[in-house]
Amino acid sequence: MTDAKREHWDEVYRTKAADSVSWYQPTPEPSLRALDEMQLPAAAALIDVGGGASSLVDCLIERGWSDLTVLDIAAPALDVAKERLQGDAIRVVWILADVTMWRPSRRYDLWHDRAVFHFLTEPQQRLAYRRALETGTAPGSVVIIATFAPDGPERCSGLPVQRYDATALAAELGSAFALEREWREGHTTPGGGLQPFQWCVFRRR
Ligand SMILES: C[S@@+](CC[C@H](N)C(=O)[O-])C[C@H]1O[C@@H](n2cnc3c(N)ncnc32)[C@H](O)[C@@H]1O
Repeated sequence: MTDAKREHWDEVYRTKAADSVSWYQPTPEPSLRALDEMQLPAAAALIDVGGGASSLVDCLIERGWSDLTVLDIAAPALDVAKERLQGDAIRVVWILADVTMWRPSRRYDLWHDRAVFHFLTEPQQRLAYRRALETGTAPGSVVIIATFAPDGPERCSGLPVQRYDATALAAELGSAFALEREWREGHTTPGGGLQPFQWCVFRRR
């Protein structure tokens, strides 16, 4: 199962330009806005789960953030990001892993996931994700998760997704995570399509 998933994502990043995939955004505006609103300091430890080739870490390095980790199942995705960052790549901890098989060895102040949780269509995958989330965060940690909204696409990158509104996502995470903010975003794909996203910001109790 994990091998098939990894092969799928490896193939995506090997065959498509990073700025042509549907989830590409020139700058990760919604994530940066959420970080600003939550007033997180640049010293906070952040992990971008399923960060792929996202430029979120580039933006945070520019803003002086110093404790950054990116985890992804696809090595070619991390290679794209490392190449883009050049010398700054050493400022980031890169983890090649399937989040549902991963046991964090430390805790993060901020867990960021844009368009990864929604691929977990089986309850046991979501349970495994939640175990990683619970191990990788502490009381007070902020968790930002963006998924396709209920009226969003049924598939992403050729894979089926589970769509959420804020209530449904909060129910998935359980009572240990308090929903602090939620909003919808219309993401414009490089092809000009519109994808409704649901963003949620939780704080661990
Ligand atoms: C739709 S892309 C979003 C990438 C990035 N978060 C962004 O916003 O640009 C989904 C990403 O999740 C990664 N991914 C999918 N399933 C994963 C899993 N089980 N564990 C870790 N990464 C995963 C993919 O390789 C891909 O980079």
